[in-house]
Amino acid sequence: MHTATSLLDSCTPGMTLPQGFYLDKAIFEAEMQSIFQTQWLFAGHSCEVAEPGQYFTLSIGRESLIVIRDREGNLQAHFNVCRHRGSRLAWSDRGCVKSLVCPYHGWVYQLDGSLKAARLMGETFNPDAYPLVSTSVRELAGLVFVCFSPQPPDFEAAVSAIAPQLGPHRLDQAKVIARDRYHINANWKTILENNRECYHCRVAHPEFMLSNYDAGLPGDDRNKRFQRTVKDAYQRWQSMGLNPQDVSFPDGSWFRVARFPLRNGFLTESLHGRLTAPLMGNLPSADVGSLRLVGMPNFWGHANADYTMTTQVIPLSPEATQINVAFLVHPDAVEGTDYAVDDVAAVWRATSEQDWQICESNYLGVCSSAYQPGHLSPLMEASVAQFITWYLRQMTSHPSAASSSKW
Ligand code: FES
Ligand SMILES: [Fe+2]
Repeated sequence: MHTATSLLDSCTPGMTLPQGFYLDKAIFEAEMQSIFQTQWLFAGHSCEVAEPGQYFTLSIGRESLIVIRDREGNLQAHFNVCRHRGSRLAWSDRGCVKSLVCPYHGWVYQLDGSLKAARLMGETFNPDAYPLVSTSVRELAGLVFVCFSPQPPDFEAAVSAIAPQLGPHRLDQAKVIARDRYHINANWKTILENNRECYHCRVAHPEFMLSNYDAGLPGDDRNKRFQRTVKDAYQRWQSMGLNPQDVSFPDGSWFRVARFPLRNGFLTESLHGRLTAPLMGNLPSADVGSLRLVGMPNFWGHANADYTMTTQVIPLSPEATQINVAFLVHPDAVEGTDYAVDDVAAVWRATSEQDWQICESNYLGVCSSAYQPGHLSPLMEASVAQFITWYLRQMTSHPSAASSSKW
């Protein structure tokens, strides 16, 4: 057990975190309270809950939510906790129901969370007094975010930056064609840190590097030719009404959105450069590059002309993390005629699985007695330093962490 102060004092700007942050169970518990209970979390996609009764669940730490479309068309996020004796109501990851029936004693809840019927509870029992406990949920251009806190952080800045750029991809009307679930033997921060840099891309990601530049990260302005390519692309995209803008964690906030050009000869992040599925949404052209999205602490995605990939990070313990990767295409696209799942997913399956391997390898070293915090490259890993700063700020600024003297 470390004291919060001693561990915080041992952090050095521009360097990776001390070992305790990756191993200590008490720190993991503090992260659950100070970050995963307080921040906006990526929960899933609007198109998976388009119709009344469609739902998916999100379970993190001790919490579980049912995100469900009600009869009025509103999205609701109910705690997956029965008001009778607390049982989980939904046992599946997703489904479609007329009402939520508790599998234990059969209490029945409406989609809006109100208790409709409670068998054999006596005449004085008032069902109106026992609706499901609900929390904050928002839809952003087809992405669904939830927050366990009754006072969620600002969401409007993310809407203003992301909606105009992601909107034309029409994720709200897309369909999920593949879901890959991974169990990674690494701390969730190791995975986020890896996502926040492309220093490793040339070494680890041959498929990704076919279509992508490893330039343009915050802090790296060496490549003047790339900057000209971006400027030219922005002019083209502006004329198409795509509103390109690089908004990277403004004022230390939790989100990033940036449209990046792909390499010559690549219309999408595919192995061959061609589109792998019909154009998404109402995109004006295939020449839209790749829209990169990040939401700390648990989301990143790339929206291409033909498909979108989303990644959801779910911490399980200090040393294990679940990752859910989804691929979405136009809802009318027909498998076998318009797309093949393996072709759509080729680059990101390869890239993600390479990432999990390097994260597990990195984490093994972080757990060694030989590990000491390492220097981050100011050119290639400034965004990792930014993530660590954001992380430490959450850990020290929320009352739940501040009130516990020991991590
Ligand atoms: S715990 Fe749900 S009906 Fe009893
Ligand atoms: Fe990577």
